Amino acid sequence: RRIDLIGIATASGASVRGCGMGPESLRVAGLVEALIDLGHRVADHGDLRRPRPDVSTHPSSGRAPEQRKADVLDLAARTSEAGMTILSEGCLPVFLGGDHSIAMGSVSAVARHCGDERPVHVMWIDAHADYNTPLTSPTGNLHGMPLALLCGEPGFDDSFAGPWLGRIDPRNVTIFGARSIDRDERKLLQSRGVDVVDMRKIDQLGVVALMQKLLERVKTAGAHMHVSLDLDAMDPSIAPGGGTLVPGGLSYREAHLIMEMLHDSGSVGSLDVVELNPFLDHGGQSATLLVDLAASLFGRSIMGEEPGPMEFTTEA
Ligand code: ARG
Ligand code: MN
Ligand code: MN
Ligand code: MN
Repeated sequence: RRIDLIGIATASGASVRGCGMGPESLRVAGLVEALIDLGHRVADHGDLRRPRPDVSTHPSSGRAPEQRKADVLDLAARTSEAGMTILSEGCLPVFLGGDHSIAMGSVSAVARHCGDERPVHVMWIDAHADYNTPLTSPTGNLHGMPLALLCGEPGFDDSFAGPWLGRIDPRNVTIFGARSIDRDERKLLQSRGVDVVDMRKIDQLGVVALMQKLLERVKTAGAHMHVSLDLDAMDPSIAPGGGTLVPGGLSYREAHLIMEMLHDSGSVGSLDVVELNPFLDHGGQSATLLVDLAASLFGRSIMGEEPGPMEFTTEA
Protein backbone atom coordinates (compact mmCIF):
# COMPACT_ATOMS: atom_id res chain seq x y z
CA ARG A 1 0.00 0.00 0.00
CA ARG A 2 1.51 3.27 -1.13
CA ILE A 3 2.11 6.02 1.44
CA ASP A 4 1.11 9.43 0.10
CA LEU A 5 2.54 12.55 1.70
CA ILE A 6 0.79 15.85 1.50
CA GLY A 7 2.03 19.00 3.22
CA ILE A 8 -0.25 21.72 4.53
CA ALA A 9 2.11 24.64 4.95
CA THR A 10 0.25 26.87 7.36
CA ALA A 11 0.41 28.43 10.80
CA SER A 12 -2.92 30.23 10.50
CA GLY A 13 -4.46 28.22 13.34
CA ALA A 14 -1.61 29.02 15.72
CA SER A 15 -0.54 32.17 17.52
CA VAL A 16 3.16 31.58 16.91
CA ARG A 17 4.47 31.73 13.35
CA GLY A 18 6.77 29.13 11.83
CA CYS A 19 5.02 25.77 11.67
CA GLY A 20 4.11 26.56 8.06
CA MET A 21 7.67 25.46 7.38
CA GLY A 22 6.98 22.08 9.00
CA PRO A 23 6.46 19.96 5.87
CA GLU A 24 9.75 21.01 4.33
CA SER A 25 11.61 20.42 7.58
CA LEU A 26 10.23 16.87 7.74
CA ARG A 27 11.44 16.27 4.20
CA VAL A 28 14.89 17.66 4.98
CA ALA A 29 15.01 15.35 8.00
CA GLY A 30 14.59 12.41 5.63
CA LEU A 31 10.97 11.34 5.89
CA VAL A 32 10.69 10.05 2.33
CA GLU A 33 14.00 8.21 2.50
CA ALA A 34 13.08 6.59 5.83
CA LEU A 35 9.82 5.23 4.41
CA ILE A 36 11.48 3.99 1.23
CA ASP A 37 14.15 2.33 3.31
CA LEU A 38 11.41 0.33 5.03
CA GLY A 39 10.31 -0.98 1.65
CA HIS A 40 7.31 1.29 1.17
CA ARG A 41 6.25 2.94 -2.03
CA VAL A 42 5.98 6.68 -1.43
CA ALA A 43 4.42 9.55 -3.34
CA ASP A 44 4.89 13.17 -2.35
CA HIS A 45 2.09 15.50 -3.42
CA GLY A 46 3.91 18.66 -2.31
CA ASP A 47 2.28 21.33 -0.19
CA LEU A 48 -1.05 23.09 0.03
CA ARG A 49 -0.69 26.72 1.07
CA ARG A 50 -2.56 29.98 0.78
CA PRO A 51 -2.07 31.58 -2.62
CA ARG A 52 0.18 34.45 -1.60
CA PRO A 53 1.58 36.03 1.51
CA ASP A 54 0.26 39.44 2.46
CA VAL A 55 1.03 42.36 4.72
CA SER A 56 1.43 41.78 8.44
CA THR A 57 -1.41 43.21 10.45
CA HIS A 58 -1.29 41.05 13.54
CA PRO A 59 1.74 41.26 15.82
CA SER A 60 2.04 37.62 16.84
CA SER A 61 0.88 35.79 13.76
CA GLY A 62 1.37 38.28 10.96
CA ARG A 63 -2.29 37.89 9.99
CA ALA A 64 -5.53 39.34 11.26
CA PRO A 65 -7.79 36.81 13.08
CA GLU A 66 -10.50 36.91 10.41
CA GLN A 67 -7.98 36.37 7.66
CA ARG A 68 -6.38 33.52 9.58
CA LYS A 69 -9.76 31.90 10.01
CA ALA A 70 -10.46 32.19 6.30
CA ASP A 71 -7.06 30.61 5.61
CA VAL A 72 -7.79 27.72 7.99
CA LEU A 73 -11.18 26.97 6.43
CA ASP A 74 -9.92 27.24 2.87
CA LEU A 75 -6.97 24.93 3.56
CA ALA A 76 -9.17 22.49 5.46
CA ALA A 77 -11.50 22.21 2.48
CA ARG A 78 -8.60 21.59 0.12
CA THR A 79 -6.99 19.13 2.53
CA SER A 80 -10.24 17.21 2.82
CA GLU A 81 -10.55 16.89 -0.97
CA ALA A 82 -6.91 15.90 -1.43
CA GLY A 83 -7.15 13.35 1.37
CA MET A 84 -10.28 11.81 -0.12
CA THR A 85 -8.56 11.41 -3.48
CA ILE A 86 -5.58 9.67 -1.88
CA LEU A 87 -7.82 7.34 0.13
CA SER A 88 -10.03 6.53 -2.86
CA GLU A 89 -6.91 5.38 -4.71
CA GLY A 90 -6.28 2.90 -1.89
CA CYS A 91 -3.26 4.78 -0.58
CA LEU A 92 -2.42 5.76 2.98
CA PRO A 93 -2.32 9.54 3.46
CA VAL A 94 0.20 11.24 5.73
CA PHE A 95 -0.71 14.88 6.34
CA LEU A 96 2.28 17.04 7.18
CA GLY A 97 1.44 20.19 9.14
CA GLY A 98 1.22 22.93 9.65
CA ASP A 99 -0.59 23.64 12.85
CA HIS A 100 -3.16 21.22 14.23
CA SER A 101 -6.13 22.96 12.54
CA ILE A 102 -5.20 20.96 9.44
CA ALA A 103 -6.86 17.96 11.11
CA MET A 104 -10.24 19.46 10.22
CA GLY A 105 -9.31 18.57 6.66
CA SER A 106 -7.48 15.31 7.26
CA VAL A 107 -9.96 13.73 9.67
CA SER A 108 -12.95 14.81 7.58
CA ALA A 109 -11.33 13.21 4.54
CA VAL A 110 -11.07 9.93 6.43
CA ALA A 111 -14.62 10.16 7.79
CA ARG A 112 -16.06 10.95 4.38
CA HIS A 113 -14.09 8.12 2.79
CA CYS A 114 -15.20 5.57 5.37
CA GLY A 115 -18.81 6.80 5.34
CA ASP A 116 -21.24 4.37 6.91
CA GLU A 117 -19.14 1.39 5.92
CA ARG A 118 -16.39 1.62 8.49
CA PRO A 119 -16.20 3.37 11.85
CA VAL A 120 -13.35 5.82 12.36
CA HIS A 121 -11.37 6.01 15.57
CA VAL A 122 -9.23 9.10 16.12
CA MET A 123 -6.14 8.81 18.30
CA TRP A 124 -5.08 12.34 19.18
CA ILE A 125 -1.55 12.22 20.57
CA ASP A 126 -1.08 15.65 22.10
CA ALA A 127 -0.25 17.63 25.23
CA HIS A 128 -3.56 19.40 24.58
CA ALA A 129 -7.07 18.17 23.87
CA ASP A 130 -7.78 20.71 21.08
CA TYR A 131 -11.42 20.45 22.15
CA ASN A 132 -12.19 24.14 22.61
CA THR A 133 -15.02 25.97 20.88
CA PRO A 134 -15.12 29.72 20.20
CA LEU A 135 -17.10 29.92 23.45
CA THR A 136 -14.58 28.06 25.60
CA SER A 137 -11.25 28.97 24.01
CA PRO A 138 -9.11 31.26 26.13
CA THR A 139 -6.96 32.18 23.11
CA GLY A 140 -9.21 32.09 20.05
CA ASN A 141 -6.56 30.08 18.21
CA LEU A 142 -8.13 27.58 15.85
CA HIS A 143 -5.50 24.88 16.39
CA GLY A 144 -7.07 24.47 19.84
CA MET A 145 -10.49 23.66 18.33
CA PRO A 146 -10.38 21.05 15.54
CA LEU A 147 -11.58 18.09 17.61
CA ALA A 148 -14.57 20.00 18.98
CA LEU A 149 -15.56 21.00 15.46
CA LEU A 150 -15.17 17.45 14.17
CA CYS A 151 -17.27 16.17 17.06
CA GLY A 152 -20.09 18.60 16.33
CA GLU A 153 -19.87 20.72 19.47
CA PRO A 154 -22.17 23.73 19.59
CA GLY A 155 -20.60 27.17 19.67
CA PHE A 156 -19.32 27.29 16.10
CA ASP A 157 -21.35 29.70 13.97
CA ASP A 158 -22.37 29.11 10.35
CA SER A 159 -19.10 30.48 9.04
CA PHE A 160 -17.48 27.21 10.21
CA ALA A 161 -19.72 25.09 7.98
CA GLY A 162 -17.94 22.39 6.02
CA PRO A 163 -17.49 18.64 5.65
CA TRP A 164 -15.76 18.45 9.06
CA LEU A 165 -18.79 19.50 11.11
CA GLY A 166 -19.88 16.68 13.41
CA ARG A 167 -18.13 14.01 11.36
CA ILE A 168 -16.73 12.16 14.37
CA ASP A 169 -18.45 10.54 17.31
CA PRO A 170 -16.72 11.89 20.43
CA ARG A 171 -16.88 8.37 21.90
CA ASN A 172 -14.58 7.26 19.08
CA VAL A 173 -11.81 9.65 20.09
CA THR A 174 -8.85 8.87 22.33
CA ILE A 175 -6.66 11.74 23.44
CA PHE A 176 -3.27 10.39 24.46
CA GLY A 177 -0.58 12.26 26.39
CA ALA A 178 -2.69 15.22 27.55
CA ARG A 179 -1.50 17.48 30.33
CA SER A 180 -2.85 20.93 29.45
CA ILE A 181 -6.62 21.23 29.20
CA ASP A 182 -8.61 24.43 29.67
CA ARG A 183 -11.36 24.63 32.28
CA ASP A 184 -14.44 24.68 30.05
CA GLU A 185 -12.76 22.39 27.57
CA ARG A 186 -12.42 19.79 30.32
CA LYS A 187 -16.14 20.05 31.07
CA LEU A 188 -16.98 19.38 27.44
CA LEU A 189 -14.67 16.37 27.28
CA GLN A 190 -16.23 14.90 30.39
CA SER A 191 -19.81 15.44 29.29
CA ARG A 192 -19.20 13.84 25.85
CA GLY A 193 -17.39 10.80 27.17
CA VAL A 194 -14.16 11.41 25.28
CA ASP A 195 -11.48 8.94 26.31
CA VAL A 196 -8.69 11.07 27.77
CA VAL A 197 -5.51 9.14 28.50
CA ASP A 198 -3.63 11.84 30.35
CA MET A 199 0.01 11.77 31.46
CA ARG A 200 -0.94 10.75 34.96
CA LYS A 201 -2.59 7.59 33.63
CA ILE A 202 0.44 6.92 31.48
CA ASP A 203 2.73 7.32 34.50
CA GLN A 204 0.57 5.04 36.57
CA LEU A 205 -0.46 2.29 34.15
CA GLY A 206 2.19 2.53 31.46
CA VAL A 207 1.98 2.80 27.70
CA VAL A 208 1.68 -0.95 27.07
CA ALA A 209 -1.49 -1.63 29.06
CA LEU A 210 -3.17 1.56 27.83
CA MET A 211 -2.29 0.90 24.20
CA GLN A 212 -3.39 -2.74 24.39
CA LYS A 213 -6.78 -1.62 25.65
CA LEU A 214 -7.18 0.97 22.91
CA LEU A 215 -5.97 -1.30 20.12
CA GLU A 216 -8.22 -4.11 21.24
CA ARG A 217 -11.19 -1.79 21.15
CA VAL A 218 -10.34 -0.48 17.69
CA LYS A 219 -9.80 -3.98 16.39
CA THR A 220 -13.11 -5.24 17.77
CA ALA A 221 -14.91 -2.31 16.14
CA GLY A 222 -13.10 -2.99 12.86
CA ALA A 223 -12.35 0.71 12.78
CA HIS A 224 -10.07 2.77 10.60
CA MET A 225 -7.61 4.34 13.03
CA HIS A 226 -6.54 7.88 12.24
CA VAL A 227 -3.51 8.97 14.24
CA SER A 228 -3.01 12.68 14.77
CA LEU A 229 0.47 13.24 16.17
CA ASP A 230 1.18 16.66 17.68
CA LEU A 231 4.86 17.30 18.32
CA ASP A 232 4.08 18.76 21.74
CA ALA A 233 2.87 15.39 23.04
CA MET A 234 6.55 14.61 23.48
CA ASP A 235 8.56 16.08 26.31
CA PRO A 236 10.08 19.48 25.41
CA SER A 237 13.53 18.11 26.30
CA ILE A 238 13.40 15.87 23.22
CA ALA A 239 11.04 17.99 21.11
CA PRO A 240 11.86 21.68 21.53
CA GLY A 241 10.55 22.80 18.13
CA GLY A 242 6.99 23.76 19.01
CA GLY A 243 5.08 26.92 19.83
CA THR A 244 2.96 25.52 22.67
CA LEU A 245 5.32 23.34 24.71
CA VAL A 246 4.19 21.83 28.01
CA PRO A 247 6.52 20.08 30.49
CA GLY A 248 6.06 16.46 31.49
CA GLY A 249 5.50 14.85 28.11
CA LEU A 250 6.10 11.47 26.54
CA SER A 251 9.65 10.19 26.71
CA TYR A 252 11.57 9.05 23.65
CA ARG A 253 11.02 5.42 24.57
CA GLU A 254 7.32 5.85 25.34
CA ALA A 255 6.70 7.65 22.06
CA HIS A 256 8.47 4.97 20.04
CA LEU A 257 6.67 2.19 21.87
CA ILE A 258 3.33 3.79 21.02
CA MET A 259 4.34 3.94 17.36
CA GLU A 260 5.61 0.36 17.33
CA MET A 261 2.41 -0.94 18.88
CA LEU A 262 0.36 1.07 16.38
CA HIS A 263 2.34 -0.54 13.59
CA ASP A 264 1.86 -4.05 14.93
CA SER A 265 -1.89 -3.48 15.24
CA GLY A 266 -2.30 -2.99 11.50
CA SER A 267 -5.22 -0.67 12.27
CA VAL A 268 -3.68 2.66 11.23
CA GLY A 269 -5.08 3.99 7.96
CA SER A 270 -3.96 7.62 8.03
CA LEU A 271 -1.63 9.95 9.93
CA ASP A 272 -1.13 13.63 10.73
CA VAL A 273 2.27 14.96 11.83
CA VAL A 274 1.67 18.48 13.11
CA GLU A 275 2.90 21.51 15.05
CA LEU A 276 6.58 21.21 14.12
CA ASN A 277 7.98 24.74 14.07
CA PRO A 278 11.39 24.66 12.38
CA PHE A 279 12.04 28.26 13.43
CA LEU A 280 11.97 27.14 17.08
CA ASP A 281 13.59 23.76 16.55
CA HIS A 282 17.13 23.06 17.68
CA GLY A 283 19.13 22.07 14.62
CA GLY A 284 16.51 19.69 13.29
CA GLN A 285 16.19 17.69 16.52
CA SER A 286 12.38 17.76 16.59
CA ALA A 287 12.04 17.14 12.86
CA THR A 288 14.34 14.14 13.13
CA LEU A 289 12.38 12.81 16.10
CA LEU A 290 9.13 13.02 14.14
CA VAL A 291 10.69 11.25 11.16
CA ASP A 292 11.96 8.49 13.43
CA LEU A 293 8.55 8.17 15.08
CA ALA A 294 6.84 7.96 11.70
CA ALA A 295 9.37 5.29 10.72
CA SER A 296 8.46 3.27 13.81
CA LEU A 297 4.78 3.62 12.95
CA PHE A 298 5.50 2.33 9.46
CA GLY A 299 7.48 -0.69 10.53
CA ARG A 300 10.95 0.21 11.63
CA SER A 301 12.07 -1.93 14.56
CA ILE A 302 15.37 -2.48 16.30
CA MET A 303 15.75 -6.13 15.23
CA GLY A 304 13.53 -5.81 12.16
CA GLU A 305 13.89 -7.69 8.90
CA GLU A 306 15.79 -6.33 5.94
CA PRO A 307 13.84 -3.63 4.13
CA GLY A 308 12.05 -4.72 0.99
CA PRO A 309 12.26 -3.26 -2.50
CA MET A 310 12.28 0.49 -2.90
CA GLU A 311 10.20 2.58 -5.19
CA PHE A 312 9.75 6.31 -5.26
CA THR A 313 7.18 8.23 -7.27
CA THR A 314 7.45 12.00 -7.33
CA GLU A 315 4.30 12.69 -9.29
CA ALA A 316 0.99 13.04 -7.49
N1 ARG B 1 -5.80 24.91 24.76
C1 ARG B 1 -5.05 25.99 24.21
C2 ARG B 1 -5.91 26.81 23.26
O1 ARG B 1 -7.04 26.50 23.03
C3 ARG B 1 -3.79 25.47 23.49
C4 ARG B 1 -4.07 24.69 22.26
C5 ARG B 1 -2.80 24.22 21.63
N2 ARG B 1 -3.09 23.43 20.48
C6 ARG B 1 -2.19 22.96 19.66
N3 ARG B 1 -2.63 22.30 18.60
N4 ARG B 1 -0.92 23.12 19.87
O2 ARG B 1 -5.44 27.77 22.69
MN1 MN C 1 -2.67 19.78 18.99
MN1 MN D 1 -0.60 20.37 21.36
MN1 MN E 1 14.54 26.59 22.30
